[in-house]
Amino acid sequence: VAVADTKIAKSGADGSLIYRGYSIQDLFEKSTFEETAFLILNGRLPSRKELAVFTSRLRRRSHLPPEIYKVLRTLPRGAHPMDILRTAFSALGTIERGLSPDDRKISIIAKMPSLVINSYRVVRGKRPVEPKESLGQGANILYMLRGKAPSAFESWVMERVLILYMEHDFNASAFTVTVVASTLADVYSACTAGLAALKGPLHGGANEAAMQMLTKIGKAENAAAYVQQLLAAHEKIMGFGHRVYKTVDPRAQLTKQLLRRLVAETGKGEALYDLCEAVEKVVWELKKLPANLEFYAAPVFHILGVPQEVDTPLFACSRIVGWVAHYDEQLQDNRIYRPDAVYVGEKGLKYVPISER
Ligand SMILES: CC(C)(COP(=O)(O)OP(=O)(O)OC[C@H]1O[C@@H](n2cnc3c(N)ncnc32)[C@H](O)[C@@H]1OP(=O)(O)O)[C@@H](O)C(=O)NCCC(=O)NCCS
Repeated sequence: VAVADTKIAKSGADGSLIYRGYSIQDLFEKSTFEETAFLILNGRLPSRKELAVFTSRLRRRSHLPPEIYKVLRTLPRGAHPMDILRTAFSALGTIERGLSPDDRKISIIAKMPSLVINSYRVVRGKRPVEPKESLGQGANILYMLRGKAPSAFESWVMERVLILYMEHDFNASAFTVTVVASTLADVYSACTAGLAALKGPLHGGANEAAMQMLTKIGKAENAAAYVQQLLAAHEKIMGFGHRVYKTVDPRAQLTKQLLRRLVAETGKGEALYDLCEAVEKVVWELKKLPANLEFYAAPVFHILGVPQEVDTPLFACSRIVGWVAHYDEQLQDNRIYRPDAVYVGEKGLKYVPISER
């Protein structure tokens, strides 16, 4: 059901995806995180000067206020990183009340990598690592995670995945953000709701679930039996299927190429690549479901050394850009969402006093 007009992005049943009119393939090959974020937020590619200003605004706002660390230190160690992130993000809204609407948007996009990685670190008793203002968004994630600078190639790989994750028209979390925006609530409230929607395994949580599944299957030879078993039990195969893409998810194709390159360059994960291909082949043969982005993003993150539970928070690091764009678009021509539902319950019942029930 089409619920709104949007100029931000469009995924097509033919396996196409555009951001503001540009194909995802073009952006994947040629663009950077910051340039793509500018495009999604502003509807056009930046000039060199605009990009420099935008990038420097992001980097200057990338550090977390000390109050966030205080909140994080009160959370239980075993908490899921998505729950920690949602709590920390929500707390940020209480701290940044004084910022202008434009600075708020820059701030939440800029702080997301540090929120994701440092909330994970601190709740597990590790020291936070401050983001480096000399690094881009992709490189900073790996830097804060490891405490040392990643290679240029690894940073490039991480940035490609972030570009693919950045926006996807009216997916569940973007729609959630839009509904909250339509009530005129602030951008922190709307994106906190977006994080809540993203956590579920049918949406963003699928990358972590896909990696858990790949770990359980273990090797390519086990793929067919495992998938058959899941299908026989009417269980979902995580990282497969999509509401829009029925034959191919263009983001999965690009991430698969990236995985192949990552394996070739690092010499790591060859067996994992073979396992992914074997699962993809058998799921297509048996159920005609295509692999989605989550299925191939998970092994890329794994080879880059990202802990499994951080896979979904990393999705948020990038999708925050799309959420902010949807928040803005909704407010440009706002009317509160109030959908109808078909009532299928009973009617005309007579109230019976509790003493007679
Ligand atoms: C993404 C998803 C939620 C889309 O749901 P949807 O639009 O309702 O799915 P469809 O209408 O295309 O489902 C068609 C059929 O395929 C089945 N199906 C869809 N995805 C499946 C999966 N991953 N594993 C097993 N069966 C699946 C459905 O159960 C349905 O079967 P039925 O006709 O026997 O009832 C769904 O494919 C799914 O749960 N995938 C796994 C989670 C995931 O990877 N999410 C990330 C998406 S980017």
